[in-house]
Amino acid sequence: MKTIFSNSKYKMYKWILFFSFMLLVIATAFFLSYKTTDVGASPSMIVRENISFKNDVQPILERRCTKCHGGEFPSESLNLESYESLMVGSQNGEVVIAGDSSNSLLFEQIESGEMPKRGSDLTAEQIELIRQWINEGALNN
Ligand code: HEC
Repeated sequence: MKTIFSNSKYKMYKWILFFSFMLLVIATAFFLSYKTTDVGASPSMIVRENISFKNDVQPILERRCTKCHGGEFPSESLNLESYESLMVGSQNGEVVIAGDSSNSLLFEQIESGEMPKRGSDLTAEQIELIRQWINEGALNN
């Protein structure tokens, strides 16, 4: 080292290294606090049939979506507070096509992580529940 850097220059590089390391730590902390995992969800992946709107799907929508898609002025006029309003869709039309999750805008948006617009993505399990519920006919069950 002493052949490349004079003593003071070497010290300066040490400081630069130290500061970039601190910057990395701070950036990582920010990233982690933004993309927190969904603590309420159970870790196991469900593969079962007869998903219930009331018991399985609605609690997810209530917890993660209705803050924006509910109330007096729901985002994009999409109200996710009830089965009926969900099936009406948004100002652009239907967001759930019964039996066809791959053509359902709502599924596309949660699978891509586009929605929920704030906070962590839905867990793989929550996404799978909604996918299955749509494919089973999007029933009010
Ligand atoms: C923080 C507010 C917020 C939350 C939470 C949120 N959304 Fe949205 N959503 C929006 C806004 C705003 C738009 C309009 C498009 C945009 O800005 O990206 C939108 C658009 C959509 C659309 C597209 C509607 C259309 O016809 O274009 C769907 C579907 C949707 N949201 C579903 C959901 C679902 C499902 C959840 C919960 C898992 C959710 N959103 C959570 C704010 C939110």
